[in-house]
Amino acid sequence: FQPKSLAGKQVLITAGPTFEPIDAVRGITNISSGKMGYAVARAAVEAGARVTLISGPTALAAPLGCLRVDVNTAQQMLDAVLAHVGKADIFIGVAAVADYAVKNRSEHKIKKSDANLSIELTPNPDILATVASLPAAPFCVGFAAESQHVLQYADEKRRRKKVPLLVANLAQAAFGADDNEITLLDDAGHHPLPKASKQVLARELIQHIARMITPHA
Ligand code: C5P
Repeated sequence: FQPKSLAGKQVLITAGPTFEPIDAVRGITNISSGKMGYAVARAAVEAGARVTLISGPTALAAPLGCLRVDVNTAQQMLDAVLAHVGKADIFIGVAAVADYAVKNRSEHKIKKSDANLSIELTPNPDILATVASLPAAPFCVGFAAESQHVLQYADEKRRRKKVPLLVANLAQAAFGADDNEITLLDDAGHHPLPKASKQVLARELIQHIARMITPHA
């Protein structure tokens, strides 16, 4: 009998894009299908964890066996994460969080005119960095989708956000696709994984996390 690698662990995951409203019918978002985050949630359930998935708007069905909390904006995502992080052993930020929110969002539809229209943006909170700096922070894992200099930017991001493990991928290769090609970055170095389906890679990521939190398992 092989015990499951994350049996008894609580895992909190963010997935999908966030949606920042401009007015009643328009908004700003990031390109993200949610597939990678949902695959990670599924892999964590398979590994025996209790999983809470905080999800931005996606077209995906909630993975069986996990609690899904739906949100739209980055602020809502942060609030939901902070409401659930207390009992989490592991936090995995897979969401493509919008970097900015609209400052003076209009409750009603803005009427079209021939004049230029400016939208003022205000920076969103960094959910991963916020969780990683909590006094009782869970084991934190970040994702970095870059369009160039992937490993260099990802290394910098891992240090800046102070997370023990960061998953780097080339953004263009990952968006919407079922396959992905990722490199895991931790204190031991770079671990490139061969191109595979997001579900296979999610399982490898979960096993890597399990080894990091219980090195002698
Ligand atoms: O800085 P960047 O957005 O590239 O960092 C990506 C990582 O940080 C991902 O794990 C993402 O989920 C997380 N993140 C976050 N809150 C933000 C921006 C990014 O949690 N506002």
